[in-house]
Amino acid sequence: HTWWWAMSNFANLVVDESTVILAIETSCDETAAAIVMGGHDVLSSVVSTQIDLHAQYGGVVPEIAGRAHLDLLNPVIAQAIRESGIDERRINAVAATHGPGLIGALLIGVSAAKALALTWEVPYIGVNHLEAHLYAGLLEDPTLEMPLVVLLVSGGHTMLIEMRGHGQYKLLGRTIDDAAGEAFDKVARFLGLGYPGGPAIDAIARTGDPQAVSFPRAMMHDGLDFSFSGLKTSVINYVRNNPAANTADVAACFQEAVVDVLVSKSRKAADLIGAKGLVLGGGVAANSLLRTRFMEMCESDGRRGLVPSRAMCTDNAAMIGSAAWYRWRSDGPTTLDSGAFPNLRLPLLDSSWARGKN
Ligand code: KG4
Ligand code: ZN
Repeated sequence: HTWWWAMSNFANLVVDESTVILAIETSCDETAAAIVMGGHDVLSSVVSTQIDLHAQYGGVVPEIAGRAHLDLLNPVIAQAIRESGIDERRINAVAATHGPGLIGALLIGVSAAKALALTWEVPYIGVNHLEAHLYAGLLEDPTLEMPLVVLLVSGGHTMLIEMRGHGQYKLLGRTIDDAAGEAFDKVARFLGLGYPGGPAIDAIARTGDPQAVSFPRAMMHDGLDFSFSGLKTSVINYVRNNPAANTADVAACFQEAVVDVLVSKSRKAADLIGAKGLVLGGGVAANSLLRTRFMEMCESDGRRGLVPSRAMCTDNAAMIGSAAWYRWRSDGPTTLDSGAFPNLRLPLLDSSWARGKN
């Protein structure tokens, strides 16, 4: 059969609670595969991290990432199928992250997903990585009511999103310079704490005094946008002027400043739209202080708060399988002549579905 013949048959497929999706994630430095049923039932989720491969270079090296995905992806997919306990003939579709991310890394996952879809004669679904981060919370608690405010904080993005319904997003605020994760990584590198910086700062901050230095809270009373580049510069200047400063104290104070702004703007956003709940997502949502403060804020305001498990916050394929299920239900499968989109943006209600740059 040709794929376009198959596509016309896929239009009749029903997407329901028993629909099983094999999902693949290879956008950056984690090679991941998962089996997800009905959009939220995670039958297996395997993540193979390449952190050790990249650590010696102080960041992700795209060429090395692509080659590692090539080596790791087939065994990771096989493990995900094995651990799910299902027969591969039970798989109804194959999904993969098709953007944003490193082009050479994305293409490995997209090509593998298309090849498996062709072989098994099931649909292929291209998934937006940012949308998948939004679904991490809903995956763990599908009973959350909309509208939700989602604070999406990752290595490349910092956004406050109003989620009105499935696939219906409004951008309430975003960073005007560095992403929150980028600030963690840059400050950690400056402090000599290594890569990735977020977990390193999180760990050392536990032994530091969060009141030792007061770093600036940029744009605190200035709408819902964020700025982290000035904070990074303040930390660098402070350490240059105080060479004897305790690293744990500096890390704790930096983290305090980031979390303070993130939590207070999330609260403001929830007030503004009358949110029924707040959800945290993205790699920085693994941060201990952010997790605690975010939940404290929700509890004190009497709003529902959801902080996904750490494994669901950092890159994984279960969230890809969840977002794929909702996209398949609303938009149908993705055609096999569709490629990978390194600069893909979140589709917003007030702008067109954009594949261009931010
Ligand atoms: O979502 P993610 O895994 O990859 C992207 O899509 O960007 O996010 C990675 C980012 C990195 O900047 C990393 O330093 C940060 O998340 N991160 C953390 C923590 N764990 C990961 N930042 C602060 N505290 C953590 N515990
Ligand atoms: Zn991510």
